[in-house]
Amino acid sequence: MFKRLLLLLLIGATADVMAKDYFVSTPGTTMVLTAEVGKPLMFRYYGARADRDDVFSSYRAMNTQAFRAFGTSCVNPHACQVRFSDGDTSMNLVVESVSESEDKGLKSTVFTLRDTAHDFRVRVHYDACTDCNVMKLWSEYVNCGRKPVLLERFMSAALPVKSKECRLLTLAGNHGNECNEYVEDLGAGTRVISTQEGSRISSACQAAFMLGTDGELSEDHGNVIAGTLAWTGNFQLEFINNPFTQDPVMIFAGINPTASAYTLDAGKTLATPELILTYSTSGRGDAMRSFHFWARRHQVLDGTVEREVLLNSWEGVHLDTYEDAMHSLMDGAAAVGAEMFVMDDGWFGVKYPRAKDNAGLGDWTTDRNKLPNGVEGLVRYAGEKGLKFGIWIEPEMVNTSSELYDAHPDWVLRHQSFEPTVGRGKTQLLLDLTNPKVQDFVFGVVDNIMKENPGVSYIKWDHNMSIENAHSLYLPASHQSNLLVDYQLGLRSILERVRKAYPHLVIQLCSSGGFRLNYGFMPYFQEVWTSDQTDPLHRIYIQWGSLDFYPSNILAAHVCRRWSKYNNRYTPVKFRFDVASMCRLGLELVPSDMNDDERTYATRAIAAYKQIRPVVQQGSLYKLISPYDGNRDFASLMYVTDDGNRAVVFAYRMLYTRSMPERVIKFRGLNPEKRYLIREVCPEHEGKPVQIDGKVVSGRYLMTEGVVIRELEDRLSSKMVDDLRQTNDYRSVVLELVAQ
Ligand code: GLA
Repeated sequence: MFKRLLLLLLIGATADVMAKDYFVSTPGTTMVLTAEVGKPLMFRYYGARADRDDVFSSYRAMNTQAFRAFGTSCVNPHACQVRFSDGDTSMNLVVESVSESEDKGLKSTVFTLRDTAHDFRVRVHYDACTDCNVMKLWSEYVNCGRKPVLLERFMSAALPVKSKECRLLTLAGNHGNECNEYVEDLGAGTRVISTQEGSRISSACQAAFMLGTDGELSEDHGNVIAGTLAWTGNFQLEFINNPFTQDPVMIFAGINPTASAYTLDAGKTLATPELILTYSTSGRGDAMRSFHFWARRHQVLDGTVEREVLLNSWEGVHLDTYEDAMHSLMDGAAAVGAEMFVMDDGWFGVKYPRAKDNAGLGDWTTDRNKLPNGVEGLVRYAGEKGLKFGIWIEPEMVNTSSELYDAHPDWVLRHQSFEPTVGRGKTQLLLDLTNPKVQDFVFGVVDNIMKENPGVSYIKWDHNMSIENAHSLYLPASHQSNLLVDYQLGLRSILERVRKAYPHLVIQLCSSGGFRLNYGFMPYFQEVWTSDQTDPLHRIYIQWGSLDFYPSNILAAHVCRRWSKYNNRYTPVKFRFDVASMCRLGLELVPSDMNDDERTYATRAIAAYKQIRPVVQQGSLYKLISPYDGNRDFASLMYVTDDGNRAVVFAYRMLYTRSMPERVIKFRGLNPEKRYLIREVCPEHEGKPVQIDGKVVSGRYLMTEGVVIRELEDRLSSKMVDDLRQTNDYRSVVLELVAQ
């Protein structure tokens, strides 16, 4: 008996010697996998940076299959399932080879897994950043055989998590109400976050999560795994938890397989989107900052370049983009200190002018009735006013009332034998981006504008319909279910052409507000229209949630008029500016409609924003008081420069109730050894800043004891009703801290 046991131990030891452990590390985190040729790839650890002894003595250590295909242990969740030409759906993936390389700050470890039953491989990638704690997990499906195969499930990544108590944060929303934070216990069973919108993929939820693995999800302590799938199409994140077994929680992330079984032709490879992962040992705030750091430096186009203050015409005039109105908006924008003017929807259409939202999409020719001197006239006028000029397009769309549709009815997504579901204006359809001719056309929309008007500095690329009619008149019947993926590949190839031709033209991504907010787009876009919701109170929640994963400089935040059209709420001008100044500031109003006080304040606020812009757009974000907590009456956050010498603090009182308790704001991220001069950035009344203005306080004190800003406390006034500046709700302050 004893001899048999010894023999077994020896066999085990021999197997271990042949197997090799791969340590994939960022500066502060480590992932460990064990590979042995001919055996399944094993996942051992993901957590704080660790060496061999740390890992294998850790309670987080495991030994579970890293990337399981359907076929072996079929009762367990698997990352992929393939239907081969003979109908077989079972695979047995084992390690064939491993390669390691390093390029441009990214260490890549690639495990090639071979199916022992078919000529098929999966290359599983683990890429680790060398300058931040971000890893990217993705995979490639390679059909080495002679016949097509059908990928029925083809996840990018599988991540086992050793924790029995998890708190899950996700973002959910709707039009004008994007990115609300939801935090819940990860219960027993399967939690799925997915979308089937096809193209406006973030309309209901974000492809993103944070998972507190110590049973809590705190801002500044505890271990957190956070991830987001960088994909422009339908996504699926799954969390599978059986608390009654020793099995780890399994996370799968990838393209949503629903209605997307993908025919992979012989000899072809499908690369799946990247799951961007980070791990924090000091709470969700640190995970958020890792995403921001990585995004600005590695994912967002021109992510470290400061963005300009612009005025967009949409809320001001909607489709009435008449030359006089454009001139007047530009006059007003220049007078308050904006740097750019963007003409939104409404400027195009000759035979089918864009008088309403049911005509013109597809016909990107200037409507000379509205603009007798054309776009070129506006670009010139903007130049005379010292403004840059931007223009709106929705190039993936067409209205059935358009010359484009008249000429190419087969370019739209629809089924040939029944009426399509139509979108906005009851005439909107999507163009079929799988068709190379359509790809040329969409590229041409940008190219023509830029060739005709080289002075255009900015494009707002909108997208206001989901893929309701998931049928291509271009793809053969055998490949119809590739459409939802191939649409995205077509879009990507267009965007790559655009960027080759116009590498740094600023292009904002918009989709009915923030319906396309996803890192998959960001190599091609500098910023995103965060939401059509411009009511500042509502915006605090939307921006707060968006900031969990996305940095401030890509989130466009525009000041609306006194009365917000979406929420029918009146708010004071200072509050509106203080909320929008949290991200990339802009205006969405008619300057000439502002009263003198508002205009004067707007001019000061824009000048003040330009001063703090480097800190707000590039600093590290620390969240101080969440608007989602408690009575939802207060919110505060701050940005700090890398050297800790400058910071900007935002504080908002969102709801007044009589005799409210004092709100103590404890700052974060400062240097405890330094003393900071505190200055109110843009006081409500010029020369009358809040009491704390001018004080010099140590970083240590500000972070441990904090401050109370008296001016955000009670301020009842008889003028309250008619003078919005006196209202007790919607009070705010922005402070700048400069190390002495
Ligand atoms: C969408 C956008 C808006 C505006 C309109 C124009 O709704 O989100 O900002 O551009 O389209 O039609």
